[in-house]
Amino acid sequence: MDQKPIGVFDSGLGGLTAVRELKRLLPKEDIVYFGDTGRVPYGSRSKETIIKYARQDVAFLRTFDLKAIVIACGTVSTTALDLLAEENPIPILGVVEPAAMAAARATRSGAIGLIGTQASIRSGAYERCIARENPAARVFAKACPLFVPLVENGRVHRGDIVIETVVAEYLTPLKEAGVDTLVLGCTHYPLLEEVIGAFMGPEVRLINTGAEGAREVARRLTDTDALANRAQGTARYFVSDTVDDFARLATIFLREDVAGQVQQVDLEKEILNHRLGICNQAV
Ligand code: DGL
Repeated sequence: MDQKPIGVFDSGLGGLTAVRELKRLLPKEDIVYFGDTGRVPYGSRSKETIIKYARQDVAFLRTFDLKAIVIACGTVSTTALDLLAEENPIPILGVVEPAAMAAARATRSGAIGLIGTQASIRSGAYERCIARENPAARVFAKACPLFVPLVENGRVHRGDIVIETVVAEYLTPLKEAGVDTLVLGCTHYPLLEEVIGAFMGPEVRLINTGAEGAREVARRLTDTDALANRAQGTARYFVSDTVDDFARLATIFLREDVAGQVQQVDLEKEILNHRLGICNQAV
């Protein structure tokens, strides 16, 4: 048993796709979430910048005493997982391998579509994991850089002409390639599940990277006897920009009112205070 919270981070709202599944599977766990809303999107940035941001995100989360950190971000998982795991003494878990494994097992035709940020697609990380599990699979990959800003702006609903146009533009080649499985390789994309699902059709299986990552976390904590045991876990959300938009969209997506649990933090100040041993306001 381990009563310490699980840390989860993303560049913004996307990691909530992992949080939703974590809350469903492990309702007794406390969760500390960080969304770097002041610097989103990460996916169009260089490897060096993504690593720098990810290190700061982890350093902020580690101002809490955590049992594990979930990188609920495809971009950081494809770019910095090994490095972060090496640098930190607690388990650091990513979302790429669980999602790739799920896709490799789900496909019947062997034609898998993969969408993600530019950094994730550039890394080739999903393809490598899929090939290990299913060497016969063919992966059709497409970067979708406009999806994250649209999701962060709440443009996620069917009937929204902007998101429907962008979805059609990005996904037409994958639809024409006849994929039977589509990896939503960025944790923001499951917020577009309805629009993407409607465009691809019911015969295409969508793989939710955030949810697959959360299932792997549940397996790991169970296997290592590190689950919490309390009546009901809590969740706290920290963001690096204003609270309002995040709280509103998180409330819709998580289907519970989180407004009172969201707090804005100055990342660098919190990290510095912690290093100086000053008890920061966020803790
Ligand atoms: N949710 C992040 C991911 O999974 C979005 C990255 C971004 O900010 O571009 O890749």
